[in-house]
Amino acid sequence: MSGKVILGAQWGDEGKGKFIDIFASEADLVVRSQGGNNAGHTVIVGDNVYKLHLIPSGILYSGTLNVIGAGVVLDPKVVLSEMDELAKKGAPLDNLFIDERTHVIMPWHIEQDGLEEAARGAGNIGTTKKGIGPCYMDKAQRIGIRMHDFISKEKFFAAVKRVGELKNKLFVNYYGGKALDLDAIAEEYWGYAERLAPMVRDTSVMVFDALKAGKKVLFEGAQGTLLDIDMGTYPYVTSSHPVAGGVCVGAGIGPTLVDEVVGIFKGYTTRVGQGPFPTELDDEVGEYIRQAGAEFGVTTGRARRTGWFDAVMARYAVRVNGLTSIVINKIDPLRGLPKIKLCTAYEMDGKIITDFPADLDDLAKCKPIYEEFDGFDEDISGVKSYDEFPESIKTYIDAVERQCGCKVSIVGVGPDREQIVYKD
Ligand code: GDP
Ligand code: IMO
Ligand code: MG
Repeated sequence: MSGKVILGAQWGDEGKGKFIDIFASEADLVVRSQGGNNAGHTVIVGDNVYKLHLIPSGILYSGTLNVIGAGVVLDPKVVLSEMDELAKKGAPLDNLFIDERTHVIMPWHIEQDGLEEAARGAGNIGTTKKGIGPCYMDKAQRIGIRMHDFISKEKFFAAVKRVGELKNKLFVNYYGGKALDLDAIAEEYWGYAERLAPMVRDTSVMVFDALKAGKKVLFEGAQGTLLDIDMGTYPYVTSSHPVAGGVCVGAGIGPTLVDEVVGIFKGYTTRVGQGPFPTELDDEVGEYIRQAGAEFGVTTGRARRTGWFDAVMARYAVRVNGLTSIVINKIDPLRGLPKIKLCTAYEMDGKIITDFPADLDDLAKCKPIYEEFDGFDEDISGVKSYDEFPESIKTYIDAVERQCGCKVSIVGVGPDREQIVYKD
């Protein structure tokens, strides 16, 4: 049995796509278990850049099966356009499967996401406006449309009428907006359903059988730990469970089938959207890191907020995910900075805090306490072995490891799949 989870340990965009792609080369099956096309995962292979939102990042290997699990919310239009793009680049697509229980993002979810964000005004979350939150809301309200309904014409047309009419009442009577044309939606989306129908399976069976047969299964995380609806910086979170526990629910397996949980961090911190960020650098150092790390969103193009590595948050991520090892990705963008800082604790109302607080009002008051390290000027993008790193990087990585209480297995030095350095 070999189940390995790769997840984001900060606020997303840690470089999960690159690592899934690397580990997928030796995996038999790759599974996405939560989130939707709010995710944006970059995979770079030579001159080809793939920006994947829904399709698992294992798709580039013809021998690997790729599964979109029950916990994902799937926009059919997006998955089909992603498939068309991949087909143009020659990627194999006959190895992609979607779970019968996966919920479908409909046009009213996207509409509702936009209306709700506008209604929140200055208190908006900064969602990706892809309909993710409203689709999960309908799932919890038990009015969602799942893939097995979607691919049955009679059930799908009835569901569009039932749910669509409810949504139109909300849009017209509450938001004062326009009603959606439900007949046009049913016709358009039935076309998508027909294309996707051959890929629909009970993927929990596929994953279970693969693990029982001793095959290698990789669980591809989306978003990040601090965006988890329970464990993240609520309400500035997404509506799913990016933490390790979410993998079991979303892929339909038990926790005893997971052997390894790898948390991906950057050598610093970024965040897209609103919410407190204790180590944020709203200055020229923050801008330097943003430019050096090309910190602009894959999904929305927004500039990412940047800050120092936060070990209070990292220890929290190690704990709530039960991480077995960590990756420190994107260390190269820190090149050229005279000093590198690492937040080891917070000071709040005169007290020292070492555990990440639940109350965002408390978090907003937290002032980071930093340990300072020498920077580095060397070009490390071609480093192949850990010994070749400048001493200052090794000292910094050692401190991160000590602060997190978890071993660092890999350091990332550039966007290409070759640009990784194994530590032990
Ligand atoms: P994901 O959402 O976690 O898969 O990450 P994104 O793809 O949204 O963002 C990570 C960005 O950093 C992408 O543009 C990657 O190509 C890039 N990247 C990944 N690893 C490295 C690295 O080690 N160094 C640098 N400079 N860029 C990297
Ligand atoms: P990957 O997988 C970074 C953020 C949004 C917003 C909040 C809620 O690429 O790491 P949503 O549309 O999900 O309701 O928005 O969550 N967010 C992400 N930030 N990376 C992501 O995915 C994200 N997915 C959602 O910016 O703050
Ligand atoms: Mg991303």
